[in-house]
Amino acid sequence: MSETIIKLENIGVRFNQKNKVITAVDQVSLNIRKGDIYGIVGYSGAGKSTLVRVVNLLQTPTEGRLVVDDEVFFDQGNVQLSAQALREKRREIGMIFQHFNLMSQKTAAENVAFALKHSGLSKEAKEQKVKELLELVGLAERAENYPSQLSGGQKQRVAIARALANDPKILISDESTSALDPKTTKQILKLLQELNERLGLTIIMITHEMQIVKDIANRVAVMQDGRLIEEGSVLDIFSNPKNELTQDFMETATGIEEALRKIHQQESVRHLPAGQELVHLKFSGNATGQAIIHDLSKHYEVTANILFGNIEILDHTPVGELIVILSGTPESLSKAHAGLKESGVGIKILKEG
Ligand SMILES: Nc1ncnc2c1ncn2[C@@H]1O[C@H](COP(=O)(O)OP(=O)(O)OP(=O)(O)O)[C@@H](O)[C@H]1O
Ligand SMILES: [Mg+2]
Repeated sequence: MSETIIKLENIGVRFNQKNKVITAVDQVSLNIRKGDIYGIVGYSGAGKSTLVRVVNLLQTPTEGRLVVDDEVFFDQGNVQLSAQALREKRREIGMIFQHFNLMSQKTAAENVAFALKHSGLSKEAKEQKVKELLELVGLAERAENYPSQLSGGQKQRVAIARALANDPKILISDESTSALDPKTTKQILKLLQELNERLGLTIIMITHEMQIVKDIANRVAVMQDGRLIEEGSVLDIFSNPKNELTQDFMETATGIEEALRKIHQQESVRHLPAGQELVHLKFSGNATGQAIIHDLSKHYEVTANILFGNIEILDHTPVGELIVILSGTPESLSKAHAGLKESGVGIKILKEG
């Protein structure tokens, strides 16, 4: 198991507003390992941005401890470094945003070069570095363009190049694809994934879209009202979400919610005959939908009529689900249930005839 790069212990952030105290982050503890693409999801106001501002050293927490790369930054709500050291450390964490935050009067190259202001590099070395960074994000030809001459995806590429200028070990993305169309989103996610693999970059992805987490993250935390309500590997959380809000997020990402609504309206399901049942099967890794259907008929004399199926690759592992109508005698059905469970297939009976 790779080592921890970011450790949060009981982090709390409170803001004093006129007559009341707002708890933006509440007792959050989590570990992010080197090389993780760590997703943080939650609805608006959940505290995601405030939490990453702590990691980014822009927000001093009211309580708790933050350790980055074995160095203690905050402890019991106190800064453990000088203001100067904190400024320097901040540069070691890259950040990208929804609205790119580029300077409109500067070219792409100048925007990236701006981040090298305090680098101590010579003029030539800076120019070389800017060139390499723009190549890294696939934008070498656009170095002299101004932001207004670039598409949203290209602007985000410039912002990524700028965020990587000081060779950070950590990149934080706060809704960096929210202003982009689905195709451009995929391209930016692919770039982030490549940077993660090639540079060993640890990435924190803040988003309200579970689909983004599914596409690239290996771990995920779900936040609600400042609290971390569920955390784990993407595979575990997708196969077995425990919290209701997490289930909500998952269902919108797989399309199963929509499918179930339609399925429940079908005649054959509304008037399910005796000896039939509507079930939801979930499987991952070695079990495949095809093998499951085959086993049902061959070993249990149960026939399966598939109404919905979805398979996707999560963190390099296939994960799938099927909505099926099973038919058979009561004995064969109960044997089939036991057999499926034994082979690691999750089974939930939605309706019995
Ligand atoms: N500087 C501040 N002063 C007062 N309240 C704040 C401040 N920053 C954040 N908050 C409050 O903290 C809570 C969490 O805000 P935060 O921006 O972290 O949520 P978020 O999960 O990032 O939401 P979104 O998805 O909309 O970006 C909100 O109620 C917000 O109003
Ligand atoms: Mg936010």
